[in-house]
Amino acid sequence: MKAVQIAASVLSCDFAHLAKELSRASDANLFHLDIMDGHYVPNLTFGQPLVAKIRQLTKLPLDAHLMVTNPEDYVAPFAHLGVNWFSFHQECVYHSHRVVQHIKSLGMKAGIALNPATPLSTLDSILPDLDYVLLMSVNPGFSGQEFIPSTLEKINQLKDIITQNALPTLIEVDGGINETNASLVIAAGADILVSASYIFSSKDYGAAIKSLRNN
Ligand code: DX5
Ligand code: ZN
Repeated sequence: MKAVQIAASVLSCDFAHLAKELSRASDANLFHLDIMDGHYVPNLTFGQPLVAKIRQLTKLPLDAHLMVTNPEDYVAPFAHLGVNWFSFHQECVYHSHRVVQHIKSLGMKAGIALNPATPLSTLDSILPDLDYVLLMSVNPGFSGQEFIPSTLEKINQLKDIITQNALPTLIEVDGGINETNASLVIAAGADILVSASYIFSSKDYGAAIKSLRNN
Protein backbone atom coordinates (compact mmCIF):
# COMPACT_ATOMS: atom_id res chain seq x y z
CA MET A 1 0.00 0.00 0.00
CA LYS A 2 1.24 3.48 -0.90
CA ALA A 3 2.35 5.65 2.06
CA VAL A 4 0.10 8.53 2.97
CA GLN A 5 1.36 11.98 2.00
CA ILE A 6 1.39 14.92 4.40
CA ALA A 7 0.48 18.42 3.20
CA ALA A 8 1.63 20.98 5.78
CA SER A 9 -0.72 23.98 5.70
CA VAL A 10 1.30 27.15 6.17
CA LEU A 11 -1.78 28.94 7.56
CA SER A 12 -0.61 28.16 11.10
CA CYS A 13 3.07 28.92 10.60
CA ASP A 14 4.88 31.95 12.00
CA PHE A 15 4.95 34.25 8.95
CA ALA A 16 7.56 36.47 10.60
CA HIS A 17 10.00 33.58 10.15
CA LEU A 18 8.72 32.05 6.94
CA ALA A 19 12.00 30.64 5.62
CA LYS A 20 12.78 28.95 8.92
CA GLU A 21 9.24 27.61 9.29
CA LEU A 22 9.24 26.06 5.81
CA SER A 23 12.60 24.51 6.42
CA ARG A 24 11.49 23.07 9.79
CA ALA A 25 8.46 21.49 8.05
CA SER A 26 10.37 20.22 5.03
CA ASP A 27 9.70 16.56 5.90
CA ALA A 28 6.19 17.14 4.54
CA ASN A 29 5.40 15.95 1.00
CA LEU A 30 3.60 19.15 0.01
CA PHE A 31 2.99 22.66 1.31
CA HIS A 32 -0.74 23.43 1.42
CA LEU A 33 -1.69 27.06 0.70
CA ASP A 34 -5.10 28.16 2.03
CA ILE A 35 -6.26 31.05 -0.12
CA MET A 36 -9.34 32.78 1.36
CA ASP A 37 -11.15 35.82 0.00
CA GLY A 38 -13.46 36.99 2.80
CA HIS A 39 -16.51 36.29 0.56
CA TYR A 40 -16.72 32.58 0.07
CA VAL A 41 -15.39 32.03 3.58
CA PRO A 42 -15.43 34.46 6.50
CA ASN A 43 -11.68 34.98 6.59
CA LEU A 44 -8.88 36.57 4.56
CA THR A 45 -5.50 34.98 4.19
CA PHE A 46 -2.90 35.69 1.51
CA GLY A 47 -2.43 35.97 -2.23
CA GLN A 48 0.09 35.96 -5.02
CA PRO A 49 3.01 37.91 -3.46
CA LEU A 50 3.26 35.47 -0.59
CA VAL A 51 2.77 32.45 -2.86
CA ALA A 52 5.68 33.74 -4.97
CA LYS A 53 7.84 34.10 -1.86
CA ILE A 54 6.97 30.58 -0.67
CA ARG A 55 7.86 29.26 -4.16
CA GLN A 56 11.31 30.82 -3.81
CA LEU A 57 11.84 29.28 -0.39
CA THR A 58 11.00 25.62 -1.03
CA LYS A 59 11.34 22.95 -3.68
CA LEU A 60 8.38 20.94 -2.34
CA PRO A 61 5.23 20.89 -4.48
CA LEU A 62 2.76 23.67 -3.64
CA ASP A 63 -0.85 22.59 -3.12
CA ALA A 64 -3.16 25.62 -3.43
CA HIS A 65 -6.64 25.32 -1.91
CA LEU A 66 -8.75 28.18 -3.27
CA MET A 67 -11.59 29.20 -0.97
CA VAL A 68 -12.65 32.10 -3.19
CA THR A 69 -15.74 32.90 -5.26
CA ASN A 70 -13.92 33.16 -8.62
CA PRO A 71 -11.15 30.57 -8.52
CA GLU A 72 -10.92 30.47 -12.33
CA ASP A 73 -9.33 33.96 -12.21
CA TYR A 74 -6.33 32.51 -10.37
CA VAL A 75 -5.65 29.39 -12.43
CA ALA A 76 -3.19 31.02 -14.87
CA PRO A 77 -1.50 33.33 -12.32
CA PHE A 78 -0.94 30.45 -9.90
CA ALA A 79 0.38 28.17 -12.64
CA HIS A 80 2.86 30.88 -13.64
CA LEU A 81 3.98 31.24 -10.04
CA GLY A 82 4.92 27.56 -9.99
CA VAL A 83 1.99 26.14 -8.02
CA ASN A 84 1.67 22.38 -8.66
CA TRP A 85 -1.73 21.35 -7.29
CA PHE A 86 -4.83 23.55 -7.60
CA SER A 87 -8.20 22.86 -5.97
CA PHE A 88 -11.38 24.93 -5.91
CA HIS A 89 -14.75 24.50 -4.24
CA GLN A 90 -17.52 22.75 -6.15
CA GLU A 91 -20.05 24.92 -4.30
CA CYS A 92 -18.96 28.21 -5.88
CA VAL A 93 -18.24 27.34 -9.52
CA TYR A 94 -20.83 27.07 -12.33
CA HIS A 95 -18.58 25.40 -14.89
CA SER A 96 -16.34 23.09 -12.95
CA HIS A 97 -15.48 20.92 -15.96
CA ARG A 98 -14.12 23.98 -17.77
CA VAL A 99 -12.05 25.04 -14.75
CA VAL A 100 -10.63 21.53 -14.31
CA GLN A 101 -9.56 21.41 -17.96
CA HIS A 102 -7.94 24.84 -17.62
CA ILE A 103 -5.97 23.76 -14.54
CA LYS A 104 -4.73 20.59 -16.27
CA SER A 105 -3.87 22.40 -19.50
CA LEU A 106 -1.40 24.53 -17.53
CA GLY A 107 0.33 21.47 -16.08
CA MET A 108 -1.15 21.51 -12.57
CA LYS A 109 -2.96 18.68 -10.82
CA ALA A 110 -6.66 19.48 -10.60
CA GLY A 111 -8.79 18.93 -7.51
CA ILE A 112 -12.29 19.76 -6.38
CA ALA A 113 -13.00 20.51 -2.73
CA LEU A 114 -16.27 19.57 -1.04
CA ASN A 115 -17.56 21.13 2.16
CA PRO A 116 -18.79 18.80 4.91
CA ALA A 117 -22.43 19.31 3.85
CA THR A 118 -21.86 18.86 0.09
CA PRO A 119 -22.67 15.33 -1.11
CA LEU A 120 -20.28 13.17 -3.11
CA SER A 121 -22.95 12.84 -5.81
CA THR A 122 -22.03 16.36 -7.02
CA LEU A 123 -18.83 14.76 -8.37
CA ASP A 124 -20.54 11.97 -10.33
CA SER A 125 -19.89 13.41 -13.79
CA ILE A 126 -16.44 14.82 -13.15
CA LEU A 127 -14.63 12.32 -10.93
CA PRO A 128 -12.72 10.64 -13.81
CA ASP A 129 -11.27 14.05 -14.76
CA LEU A 130 -9.91 14.83 -11.31
CA ASP A 131 -6.42 14.16 -10.03
CA TYR A 132 -7.73 14.49 -6.48
CA VAL A 133 -10.74 15.28 -4.36
CA LEU A 134 -10.29 17.45 -1.29
CA LEU A 135 -12.78 16.43 1.38
CA MET A 136 -13.20 19.12 4.02
CA SER A 137 -13.39 17.68 7.52
CA VAL A 138 -14.15 21.11 9.02
CA ASN A 139 -16.10 24.05 7.63
CA PRO A 140 -13.60 26.06 5.60
CA GLY A 141 -12.30 29.36 6.92
CA PHE A 142 -10.03 28.68 9.85
CA SER A 143 -7.36 26.36 11.08
CA GLY A 144 -7.60 24.92 14.58
CA GLN A 145 -11.16 23.57 14.33
CA GLU A 146 -12.35 20.13 15.39
CA PHE A 147 -12.56 17.23 12.94
CA ILE A 148 -16.17 16.43 11.94
CA PRO A 149 -16.56 12.64 12.50
CA SER A 150 -19.08 12.05 9.68
CA THR A 151 -16.22 12.77 7.24
CA LEU A 152 -14.92 9.23 7.87
CA GLU A 153 -17.95 7.64 6.21
CA LYS A 154 -17.65 10.09 3.31
CA ILE A 155 -14.00 9.14 2.79
CA ASN A 156 -15.00 5.46 2.84
CA GLN A 157 -17.73 5.97 0.26
CA LEU A 158 -15.47 7.98 -2.04
CA LYS A 159 -12.72 5.37 -1.75
CA ASP A 160 -15.21 2.65 -2.75
CA ILE A 161 -16.31 4.62 -5.82
CA ILE A 162 -12.69 5.23 -6.85
CA THR A 163 -11.76 1.58 -6.36
CA GLN A 164 -14.84 0.20 -8.14
CA ASN A 165 -14.14 2.40 -11.16
CA ALA A 166 -10.36 1.81 -11.07
CA LEU A 167 -9.69 5.55 -11.04
CA PRO A 168 -6.31 7.04 -10.13
CA THR A 169 -7.99 9.89 -8.20
CA LEU A 170 -6.42 10.67 -4.82
CA ILE A 171 -8.34 11.64 -1.68
CA GLU A 172 -7.03 14.60 0.32
CA VAL A 173 -8.62 15.27 3.71
CA ASP A 174 -8.41 18.72 5.27
CA GLY A 175 -9.23 20.01 8.73
CA GLY A 176 -8.78 19.04 12.37
CA ILE A 177 -6.31 16.24 11.69
CA ASN A 178 -4.05 15.22 14.54
CA GLU A 179 -2.11 12.24 15.87
CA THR A 180 -5.27 10.72 17.35
CA ASN A 181 -7.60 10.74 14.34
CA ALA A 182 -5.00 10.34 11.55
CA SER A 183 -5.12 6.54 11.73
CA LEU A 184 -8.91 6.57 11.23
CA VAL A 185 -8.65 8.96 8.29
CA ILE A 186 -5.97 6.80 6.66
CA ALA A 187 -7.93 3.59 7.31
CA ALA A 188 -11.00 5.16 5.70
CA GLY A 189 -9.01 5.69 2.50
CA ALA A 190 -7.23 9.06 2.58
CA ASP A 191 -4.10 9.42 0.45
CA ILE A 192 -3.11 12.92 1.61
CA LEU A 193 -3.60 14.47 5.05
CA VAL A 194 -3.57 18.26 5.40
CA SER A 195 -2.47 19.63 8.74
CA ALA A 196 -1.86 23.16 9.98
CA SER A 197 -2.25 23.60 13.74
CA TYR A 198 -1.15 20.10 14.74
CA ILE A 199 2.19 20.46 12.92
CA PHE A 200 2.93 24.13 13.57
CA SER A 201 1.99 24.09 17.26
CA SER A 202 4.30 21.18 17.96
CA LYS A 203 7.89 21.54 19.16
CA ASP A 204 9.36 19.31 16.48
CA TYR A 205 7.60 19.66 13.12
CA GLY A 206 9.44 16.69 11.62
CA ALA A 207 8.30 14.43 14.47
CA ALA A 208 4.72 15.70 14.16
CA ILE A 209 4.72 14.97 10.42
CA LYS A 210 6.12 11.51 11.07
CA SER A 211 3.50 10.80 13.72
CA LEU A 212 0.74 11.58 11.20
CA ARG A 213 2.33 9.46 8.49
CA ASN A 214 3.07 6.41 10.63
CA ASN A 215 -0.38 6.06 12.09
C1 DX5 B 1 -9.48 25.41 6.57
C2 DX5 B 1 -8.27 25.12 5.73
C3 DX5 B 1 -7.39 24.07 6.31
C4 DX5 B 1 -6.74 24.46 7.61
C5 DX5 B 1 -6.39 23.23 8.38
O1 DX5 B 1 -10.35 26.23 5.86
O2 DX5 B 1 -8.67 24.67 4.46
O3 DX5 B 1 -6.39 23.69 5.37
O4 DX5 B 1 -5.58 25.23 7.41
O5 DX5 B 1 -6.05 23.60 9.67
P1 DX5 B 1 -6.02 22.56 10.88
O6 DX5 B 1 -5.13 21.43 10.49
O7 DX5 B 1 -5.51 23.37 12.03
O8 DX5 B 1 -7.45 22.12 11.07
ZN1 ZN C 1 -7.06 23.83 3.14
